[in-house]
This record gives sequence, structure tokens and C-alpha cells, in this order.
Amino acid sequence: MRNVFLFSFLFILSATLCAQRPAANGERWYDTGGKQINAHGGGVLQWKGRYYWFGEDKDTVTNAALTGVSCYVSRDLRRWKKMPTALSVDTTDATSPIARGCTLERPKVIYCPLTKQFVMWFHLELKGRGYSAALAGVATARRPEGPYTFVRAERVNAGLLPVGMNQAERQRMDTLREENYAEWWTPQWRQAIADGLFLRRDLRGGQMARDMQLYVDADGTAYHIYSSEDNLTLHIAELTPDFTRHTGRYIRVAPGQQNEAPCLWRHGGWYWLLCSGCTGWAPNAARLYRAPSIWGPWEGDLGNPCRSDAPLRPASKTFLGQGTYVLTLPNGTELFMADEWHPQRPADGRYLWLPISYTADGMPRIVWERIKVPSKKITGKSCRSWHTMLNPRRMKCVVGY
Ligand code: GAL
Repeated sequence: MRNVFLFSFLFILSATLCAQRPAANGERWYDTGGKQINAHGGGVLQWKGRYYWFGEDKDTVTNAALTGVSCYVSRDLRRWKKMPTALSVDTTDATSPIARGCTLERPKVIYCPLTKQFVMWFHLELKGRGYSAALAGVATARRPEGPYTFVRAERVNAGLLPVGMNQAERQRMDTLREENYAEWWTPQWRQAIADGLFLRRDLRGGQMARDMQLYVDADGTAYHIYSSEDNLTLHIAELTPDFTRHTGRYIRVAPGQQNEAPCLWRHGGWYWLLCSGCTGWAPNAARLYRAPSIWGPWEGDLGNPCRSDAPLRPASKTFLGQGTYVLTLPNGTELFMADEWHPQRPADGRYLWLPISYTADGMPRIVWERIKVPSKKITGKSCRSWHTMLNPRRMKCVVGY
């Protein structure tokens, strides 16, 4: 009996210590219940003074979705309380698009003032069909944490050409035939991709939508940003006022440049887009684009804004991470959120959250920091710590970062 008490005491003690231990980039992060946080490819919704972190609830051995989308709530971005599953996969109907075992990635949630609904979009692949479906999924809820009800999943903007495509470009696209470009990666093939070879291929059935982001602009218009055309070209597509459909207006960004993991934010009069290259779960160098309007013209690749002096966290590999979201805090701090994928043990994937700073000429910089332990007494170096920056009440410390 004594052993049982001792065991319970040690268990509770370790859970408490885990829950209170400050998180360092790349280490295991724990929720307030002492469990490892499982919210990969995620994003954060800010709502009434709370942060809602949504992400892929991954399994220990497979990347297939066995649970759905997880949700954690916090007031300070440090202590995260796990909520019930926000969007559950369908365990009863094997024919459901979100049947248990599907691939459900990169969920993001925004609030729609018109309908007073919370709207979740995600990248969906049908069970047993690899990455061929390339669908955009949508679900809605009345409360930020859910439960979310699945609405539909589909290819995007079927039958519609991008905004601003002129007659000459349209004619050029119409001459492109896939059989003439059987060999991929040749200069001719690359040109054909940029000119719309796959755009044309998918015109009737709708455009592919894989790695994705949502962005609500200052005027309240929401956009869906996604890797399309076999991950070769990004699209930015406008959503309807209820945020649950596409209006049909969209643009292509960086045609043929193979971008994934798009993160969009606004700073200093520019819209910034930070992406990764396409190397699956393996990290690669980030790329930066910018535009004066969300509708472009998008300029770039402007290079990799990451910097690191830690050999094991090379900037050339985005510190071993891949972007998932840029969170702008009420105090103006912008946090780049990235995943360190562990594909052999998906649930154990780690998180890297780093503040974005700017050079004198206004270019974003993301500098590797393992994160200092936040101390009660905030002085000198600890002022630069990530947690300090997160706390709006300690804004003083942010200045001069
Ligand atoms: C990554 C992508 C992830 C996931 C993975 C599958 O490039 O960003 O979200 O789709 O590929 O290999």
C-alpha cells in the first residue's frame, strides 16, 4: 500500500514539474496535465485574451490521423491546457472523407464575425490514397475550442483561372500538353509549369491544395494560401464572407518554385510569405517573398532569413524545422512557429518558436535561440528571452531586441 502512495506521489510530482518546466525549442513541451503537447503543423487563434493552439494530433507510429485536430488553451503561451479533440476523425463511417486513417494536416482556425462561427481549414488526403487527393477541408464550430463539425473537402476553384491572367497567357497555357513534357525537371518542363501546364490539367476538377495557411487581412477578408499544382506553385485564394468557401478569385505565387509550408504575415507595409522547399519531412532552407498587396506583385525568392550560430541548428535547414504559422501578439511581437518533424515517431515531433526581428533595411530575420529559462527577475540577457517577449506586460524588454 505504501508503495502505491509513494508511486502516486512521485507521479503527481513529476507531472507537476513537467507542466511547470519552461519549454526550450526542440525539447519536449508539456501541457498542464503533464502530457507531451501533440499539436503539429498548427496555428494559434487569439480569442478574448486566450490563445487556442490547434494542430495535428499525431500517433506514435503513423502519420495517419487516428484522432483528429487537437486544441490547447493558454493565457500566457507557456501553460497549455489540453481541451477535448477539436475536430475528430470519423470512427464509424469508413467512407467519410475524414475517416480514421486519413491524412489531416496543418489545421488553422479563424473567427468569422459575420456568422459568429469559428472556421477551421486543413489539408486533407483520403485514407489509403497517399497524397493524391490534395483537398482543402473545412469545419465550423460555435465555440473556439470546438467541437468542430466537418463541412466538406474539395479541390479548389474548379473551372476558374487566376485573377489577372491575360489573353496571351491564356493562349500560351492552352497550347501546353502533358504528353509533350513527360520528362520532369527539364528547363522546358519548368517553363511549361510556370506557364500553367498543371494549372490547365486541374482546371476542370479544381486545383490541388496541400500545405496551407489562413490569413485574415485588416479589411476582414480571409485568404487561403496553399501549395498547389503538385507543390510547384502557391495559390492565394480569397474566401467568401462566411469564410467557408472560395470566392473564385485567386493568384499564383512563385510559379514553378516548389514552395511548401507557407506562413503569411504583415509588417512594415509589406505582406511577407515565408516558405520551405519541398523535401518531405526533412528540413531545408526557408525562402522569403514579399508584396505590397496580398494580390501581389510578389517579389522573391528573397533568400533565407534564418541565422544561427549553433552548428546543430543550422539556418540552412531552418534550425531543423519547417514553418507552420506566424503568430502576431498584441504587443507586436511576431513569432515564427515551426515543426521539427520526427516521422518515425510522429507524436514526438518538437516545436520551435522564434521571434522575428528586422534588419535596418526592414528585412525579416529569424535568429536561433534555444530560449532562456524565464526568471522572475528580468534583467540583462534574460530580457531577450522568448517568454519575456511573449508577455505583453513586460513590453519594456521587447524594445531593443
Ligand atoms: C511536408 C509537409 C508536411 C507533410 C509532409 C509529408 O513537406 O510540409 O505537412 O505533408 O511533407 O511528407
